[in-house]
Amino acid sequence: MNSYWLDSFDNLKDFDKINCNCECDVCIIGPGITGLTCGYYLSKLGLKVILVEKDSIGQKASGNTTGKITYQHNLIYDYLIRSYGEKYAKAYLQANKEAISHIKNIIDTENIECDFEFQPNYVYTIQQNELTKINAEVQALTSLGEDCEFVTEIPLPFKVAGAILTKNQAQFQPVKYMDGLANCILKNHSLIFCHSTASDFEEDGNQYVTFVNDHQIKSKYIIVTTHYPFKKISGFYFTKMYQSTSYVLGMDIHSQLFDGMYINPSQPIYSFRTANFGDKRLLILAGADHKTGFAPTEEDTYQNLENVAKKYYPKSEILYKWNTRDCISLDKIPYIGNLSSFTQNVYVATGFNKWGITSSNVAAKIITDKIFGKENKYSFVFNSLRLKPIKNRIELKNMGTQVFKSFVTNRIKIPEEELAKIQKDNGAILKIDSKNVGIYKDMEGNIFAVNPTCTHLGCLLTWNNLDRTWDCPCHGSRYDFKGNNIYDPAFKDLDVYKLT
Ligand code: FES
Repeated sequence: MNSYWLDSFDNLKDFDKINCNCECDVCIIGPGITGLTCGYYLSKLGLKVILVEKDSIGQKASGNTTGKITYQHNLIYDYLIRSYGEKYAKAYLQANKEAISHIKNIIDTENIECDFEFQPNYVYTIQQNELTKINAEVQALTSLGEDCEFVTEIPLPFKVAGAILTKNQAQFQPVKYMDGLANCILKNHSLIFCHSTASDFEEDGNQYVTFVNDHQIKSKYIIVTTHYPFKKISGFYFTKMYQSTSYVLGMDIHSQLFDGMYINPSQPIYSFRTANFGDKRLLILAGADHKTGFAPTEEDTYQNLENVAKKYYPKSEILYKWNTRDCISLDKIPYIGNLSSFTQNVYVATGFNKWGITSSNVAAKIITDKIFGKENKYSFVFNSLRLKPIKNRIELKNMGTQVFKSFVTNRIKIPEEELAKIQKDNGAILKIDSKNVGIYKDMEGNIFAVNPTCTHLGCLLTWNNLDRTWDCPCHGSRYDFKGNNIYDPAFKDLDVYKLT
C-alpha cells in the first residue's frame, strides 16, 4: 500500500528509461531525497548531473518516511558525548541544526509547496525508570549550548513521566519536496532517468563509466545514494549496517488533533505527528519496528499500532497503512563521504538510522563540498571510511548473531515439507532434491517457485506473508513472490524454478 504522501500527491513526475549513452559531470545513482538534494546543489552550481533510479522517484524510504525535520534524533547527544566526546557531538548537532535551515531555505528560494511547518519536538517516556536517560539527554544538550526543556506534560492524550521539548523543529510532505527538487534539477539543465538500473561502474582513465540497463553514463564523479550501497566490493557497508522495517498508519480521528512531533526512546517505539488532510488533520502513527528479514505478522505490526491508536483515539479510522525500511549503522552515525579508499571521486551517503530528512541535507552539503574541493567542518563526524571502534555493542552483537544464523543455522533447520501442505496465499521453503526451493501458493492454488538465496551475498531468504515478499535477514534486500528484486542492496532477481 502506498504511503499517504505518495497517495495524496498526483503530480509526482515519473521519468523515462535511459535510452542513450550519455556524459555528465556527476552521475547520481538513487535519487531519493539525498540524491535529489545532491542533484539540486550541484546543478545549481553549474554542473551537469544525471540521476538514475531503478524504479520511480520516492518509492523507497524517502516517500515512506514520517517527514520529520529535526536534529533531536531520539536520544543521541548523551550517547555521542560519552562515546566520542563533546566536539564530535557538537558537530553532529550543528550539522543537523543547519540542515533544518538549509531545507527551509531551499523551500523558500524555489517556492516549493510542501506543507512545511515549524513544530516542537518531544522525546517522551511513560516509564519512571527511563527518566535518568531523559535527564542525561537534557544535560547533554544544555552542555552543547542548546535550548531545550524538561517537561512533565505533553499534548498527547496520556500521562508521561517526563519529556525533552526542543522547539523550532519542523515537518513537511516529503514527496512534494522531492518533486520540487526534481523540477529544479531539470531547470538546471540536468537529467533524471527512472526505471533504469545501475548495475556496476568502472574506472576509465580519469572518469567513470556507469552501466545502466544497456547503456553507459560517463562522468567524472559518482554519488551512490541508493538505499544501501549496491557495489559489493567497496566499503564493506554490509558488515556495518542492517535494515529495520517500521510500520505507519494514517488515521482520521474525527476530532481535534495536537501540534508537535513525538517519539519515545525504547521499544516499543511509537512516533506521532499530524499532517494536512483536506481541511482536517491526519494522525500519522509509526512504530512496531523489527529487523528486516524476520517474518512479521499482522499482529506484530499494523495491529500493534492499531491497538495503540484505538486506546488513545477510540474513534480513529484507518485510511492509510504502509511500511518502510531504513539502514541502521551500528554506531548510530550515518556514513557520508568516499565510497572506499580505492575509488577516488565516488561518494556515498547511507545509514541514516531513520533520520533521513536532515541527514539527506547534511550529506548533500558534505558531498557537494568534496566535489568542489572545499573543507566541510562537519565531515569528520560522518566519515564513511572511519575505523573508530563501534560503541554500540548491543547492536554489534545482535547483528553478528543474526548474520551467522542466516548463513548457517537457517540453512540446516529448513523443514522438509510436501508442496500440498502449504496453505493458499502462503509461502515456505521446501527441500526438494536437496535444493532449497521457495514456494508461494496464491489464492487460486498457483505455485510460484524461486531459489530463495539472496543475490547480494547469498543469505537464505525468509517468507514475509504480510507483504508477500521474500526478505533477506542479512542486509534487507527484498523480492516479490515471483522473484523480482524490489529492494537493494541486491539488484538482481532470484532464479525461478519451473515446476513440471
Ligand atoms: Fe545481503 Fe541478502 S541483502 S545477502
